[in-house]
Amino acid sequence: MIFITLILISITVLAFLYEKTLRPKNFPPGPRWNPFTGNTPVIRALAKQHGGVHKALHVLSETYNSNVIGLKYGQKLTICVHDDKALKEILTRPEFQARPTTFFSTLRSFGTNKGITFTNGDLWTTQRRFLLRQLRDVGFGKEKMDLMVAEELDNILEQIGNNITPPISRIFATSVLNVIWALLAGERLNNDNAKLQNLLNLMAKRTKWFDMSGGWLNLFPWLRFIAPQATGFELISHINSEMKELFMGVINEHTKNWHEGRNDDVIYAFLTEMNETKHYSFTEDQLVMICVDLFFGGATTTSTSLEFAFLCMLLYPDVQKKVHECIDKAYLNGAMPHYKDRHLLPYVEAVIFEVLRCYLVTPITGPRIALHNTKLESYDIPEGTTIMINNYSSNHDPKIWEDPKTFRPERFLDDSGKVVVPNYFYPFNIGKRKCPADTMARNCVFTFFAGVMKTYEISLHDKSQKLTGIEIPGITISPEPFKASFKKRHAN
Ligand code: HEM
Repeated sequence: MIFITLILISITVLAFLYEKTLRPKNFPPGPRWNPFTGNTPVIRALAKQHGGVHKALHVLSETYNSNVIGLKYGQKLTICVHDDKALKEILTRPEFQARPTTFFSTLRSFGTNKGITFTNGDLWTTQRRFLLRQLRDVGFGKEKMDLMVAEELDNILEQIGNNITPPISRIFATSVLNVIWALLAGERLNNDNAKLQNLLNLMAKRTKWFDMSGGWLNLFPWLRFIAPQATGFELISHINSEMKELFMGVINEHTKNWHEGRNDDVIYAFLTEMNETKHYSFTEDQLVMICVDLFFGGATTTSTSLEFAFLCMLLYPDVQKKVHECIDKAYLNGAMPHYKDRHLLPYVEAVIFEVLRCYLVTPITGPRIALHNTKLESYDIPEGTTIMINNYSSNHDPKIWEDPKTFRPERFLDDSGKVVVPNYFYPFNIGKRKCPADTMARNCVFTFFAGVMKTYEISLHDKSQKLTGIEIPGITISPEPFKASFKKRHAN
């Protein structure tokens, strides 16, 4: 009897495990998965071999000769899209505009489902609309922002001029955060604000620790009990408490000084909304999470893009020469370049686009979730499938880009030297979930890059270092470590 029971249990377990290895009918092609960890080990191995999850998925897309790949990440059905056509479907169709809730996203949000980046439905629509309106009102995309960015450029040039020791990425990160902080809280942070610098150190660690899928911790959250340090759980918890302390200090200060109708920065405007309209989504937790989302979204993306831009000046000295020629030829009247004057510096703008194409810091975006059973191209996508968007593949697709691996800013210029941006290039994505801060990021990248290039010639500090141009993978990609020397150019 015991023997028969054991056999029946074994058959049931095997049938259960077998069922877990089956692909849903008409699911996009991809590697076979195992019942426990899905395709995670394969993707990890490919990521190690090729230099990141974005490249691993790109290789799978080539192997299966398909622009849509079907996978299992741990236990989660997942698809990844790889070309402009499939990307645009995901970015614009309503059933693909939501985010999945994962252990990683909840942990990042202090255990709540609040903020903008990882929320959905009415809360997301109301809060995103509020944030965009407020950012516009306090100066986003307007002259006020140009002035803030110009002030930060002066600060950057002063630090470089004084041979200040922090690496260039840190100088830029602080400046970008100063612009965000000024919009949020109405004041700049000091360069030597110890709390901020500590938080930036932790954020840099976090970026390299996790990959775009959230790592093993996301797949097997119970691992945090066994290995809190090795899974990165301890690091995230530490970042959370540091961040909460920093933001609560500012929010409490604002709460003390708030009065009816006050809206001179985003935090005051939020408190006004909270006290006056009483919409359920305006809570203190939500306000903290808006600050967190802007901090996470802005802390490393923009400054790392700038770092890549300067790396490219070292990798391609002929491009650096043309950037200098373009700046010297422009009629800037001795002033520093402003974002609104970018039409005067078409080659410089083309260089920035080429940096964003070759080294997009967010090579995989999303994640998104399919809200109901649907079709994508000829495939069936079951409700609840996670969706990853491979912007790296689309930006290196030989069907639309001539020699995609070559760094050639001229591809963004027409015959008359004017900038042209093809409709298959959208580094900040398109659609309802596109980056809400793209104007600010574009402004900072252009103004800081053009301003530093106008003032300095850049060379590699350690002449014996051999640069490879190979990026370091993580939540966002980063350049290989390098140190640049800045030599003052003629005054013009
Ligand atoms: C070069 C710099 C940046 C790049 C390349 C970038 C890229 C992106 C992309 C592609 C998305 C869309 C993800 C999707 O479609 O699912 C996004 C979303 C987002 N970005 Fe950015 N971003 C940059 C800078 C910033 C900055 C400076 C901030 C904050 C001040 C920011 C805050 C956000 C937020 C909050 C979202 C989530 C929007 C939502 O889910 O509704 N980003 N970013």
